[in-house]
Formats: sequence, C-alpha cells, structure tokens
Amino acid sequence: MRKILILLLAIFVVGAYSADVFAQDHAFIGAKKCGMCHKGEKKGMILEKWEEGPHAKAYETLATDEAKAIATEKGLGNPQEAAECLKCHVTGHGMDASLTADLDMANGISCEACHGAGADYKSMKIMKDREASIAAGMVAAPKEGCVSCHNEESPTYKPFVLEEYWAEIEHGLPEGE
Ligand code: HEC
Ligand code: HEC
Ligand code: HEC
Ligand code: HEC
Repeated sequence: MRKILILLLAIFVVGAYSADVFAQDHAFIGAKKCGMCHKGEKKGMILEKWEEGPHAKAYETLATDEAKAIATEKGLGNPQEAAECLKCHVTGHGMDASLTADLDMANGISCEACHGAGADYKSMKIMKDREASIAAGMVAAPKEGCVSCHNEESPTYKPFVLEEYWAEIEHGLPEGE
C-alpha cells in the first residue's frame, strides 16, 4: 500500500513538473543570458559545465549517422526536423513561437528546459527572492523532471538512475551564495 502511494505521489509530482515546464506562458531567454550571472569560478562555473555537458549537444546529436539510422527505421526524415525527436532534444519544442524566439535550437537542452522559461524571473531583484522566482516561473525541483525525457519513449533509452545521472551534470551555487 505504501509503495502504491509513493508511486502515485511520484506520478503526480512528475505530472505537475511537466505542466510547469512545458505548458506555461513565460518566454524563454536562452542559456547565454542565464550565463551572464551564472558563469565563472566565483559563481560555480554553471554555464561552463552545461556547455561541456551532454545536454548542450542534444541537437547536434540528431545529425549523427546513428540518429539518421534511427529516424529511417521509424520512417521519419531528417531527425533535426522531426518533431518525434526534437521534443526531447531541444528546449521549448512545440511551444508558441512568440515564447521561443530567443532560443537557438543548436543549444539543445538548455537551462530553461529544466528550470523553466526565464523571461519573468531573470532580473536580479526577482532571482534573489526564491519565492518570487518560483511565482515568476522558476522550477524549484528540477530533479523530478528528468524522467520527462529520460524514459522508454527515447529510442536509445538506458535505465535512468537519478544519482548517477545527476553526478554527471552536477552544478549549483557556490557555498554561501
Ligand atoms: C541578473 C542576474 C541573473 C540572471 C540573468 C539569472 N540569474 Fe539565476 N540567480 C541569480 C542570483 C544572484 C541567484 C542567487 C540568489 C541567492 O543568492 O539566493 C540566482 C539563483 C538561481 C537559482 C537558484 C534558485 C534557488 O534558490 O533555488 C536558479 C535555479 C537560477 N538562478 C537559474 C537561472 C536561470 C535558468 C536563468 C536564465 C533563465 C537565470 N538564473 C538568470 C542571478 C541571475
Ligand atoms: C527536455 C529533455 C531532457 C530533460 C528534462 C533531461 N534530459 Fe538528460 N538528456 C536529454 C537528451 C536528449 C540527452 C542526450 C544528449 C546527447 O547525447 O546528445 C540527455 C543526456 C543526459 C546525460 C548523458 C547520458 C549519456 O548516456 O551519455 C545525462 C547524465 C543526463 N542527460 C542527465 C539528466 C538529469 C540528471 C536530468 C534531470 C535533472 C536530465 N538529464 C533531464 C534530455 C533531457
Ligand atoms: C538537465 C536539467 C538541467 C539543466 C539543463 C540545467 N540545470 Fe541547473 N539544476 C538542475 C538540477 C536538478 C539542480 C539541483 C536542484 C536541487 O538541488 O534539487 C540544478 C541546480 C541549479 C542551481 C542551484 C540551485 C540551488 O538551489 O542551489 C542553479 C543556480 C542552476 N541550476 C542554474 C542553471 C543554469 C544557469 C543552467 C544553464 C547554463 C542550468 N542550471 C542547466 C537541473 C538542470
Ligand atoms: C522521450 C524523449 C526522447 C525522444 C522522443 C527522443 N530522444 Fe534521443 N535521447 C533521449 C535521451 C534521454 C537520450 C540520452 C540517452 C538515453 O538515456 O536514452 C537520448 C540520446 C539519443 C542519441 C545518442 C545515443 C546515445 O547512446 O547516447 C541519439 C542518436 C538519439 N537520442 C536520437 C534520437 C532520434 C533520432 C529521435 C527521434 C526518432 C530521438 N532520439 C527521440 C531522449 C529522447
């Protein structure tokens, strides 16, 4: 019984997260603009870690021979143009063009795919106030949303172990910030 309750809770939380991230009406600003305040040693090297990590390359990956072979097998054309692939390989796919104008697909899965579209929380005044940031669209618990992409709908799915995967892209504010 307890297990079932936990499972139901998990489904609820994941559902709520996807709704926050993918069905809201805040505009995206792009990783470079988040990076204006979140880069460099003193700020935890967050932009730099993302640039070196797997998510920044998610669109590029759709140009590989492996990606093309998967798409051909599914009867799709160019994977870099197929909604069936872009939905997990770029940020904000399928959302209203007025919200995604400042996103570059080449940046793949960027900050806002996990933290929520930032146009309304990006100012210093709001960012310094956690509650205000959340009210303006910032996602407070991004770990719960990993499985919205890391799931069996992915043609190359590998079992998702949160702690191991998080260790590979781990980042955060430096001590005392
Ligand atoms: C004008 C500078 C600025 C910009 C632009 C900015 N941030 Fe921030 N952000 C901050 C500061 C400063 C803090 C730390 C607040 C504190 O000291 O508690 C912060 C905190 C955060 C936090 C932690 C919130 C918490 O308390 O859990 C996240 C997540 C975050 N920013 C993500 C982003 C993302 C994503 C973007 C781009 C959409 C972005 N930020 C753009 C300045 C900025
Ligand atoms: C919006 C979709 C999306 C979300 C949300 C997402 N990811 Fe990913 N992730 C991807 C894609 C797509 C790739 C493949 C990137 C590539 O290889 O080009 C990936 C790759 C990775 C990899 C590299 C795996 C490998 O086999 O090389 C790690 C680690 C990872 N993600 C961790 C996470 C964690 C932890 C979270 C949650 C905090 C998360 N991801 C959330 C889409 C997502
Ligand atoms: C794949 C999803 C994902 C991407 C992409 C991502 N983050 Fe994060 N971020 C997380 C997770 C998960 C945490 C940890 C939150 C926690 O501890 O619960 C986090 C933590 C943070 C924190 C610290 C929050 C705190 O409370 O200490 C900041 C600031 C931040 N991210 C900014 C960024 C910026 C800026 C980018 C882009 C350059 C980015 N993140 C890209 C998922 C992501
Ligand atoms: C449900 C989300 C999702 C969809 C839809 C999706 N992917 Fe991915 N893709 C991922 C994730 C997450 C990864 C990271 C590896 C993993 O765990 O599957 C990834 C990794 C990849 C990789 C790198 C393989 C590897 O071993 O790292 C290729 C190539 C790829 N995807 C191609 C595609 C193609 C082509 C399509 C469209 C037919 C597609 N993906 C649709 C989520 C998705």
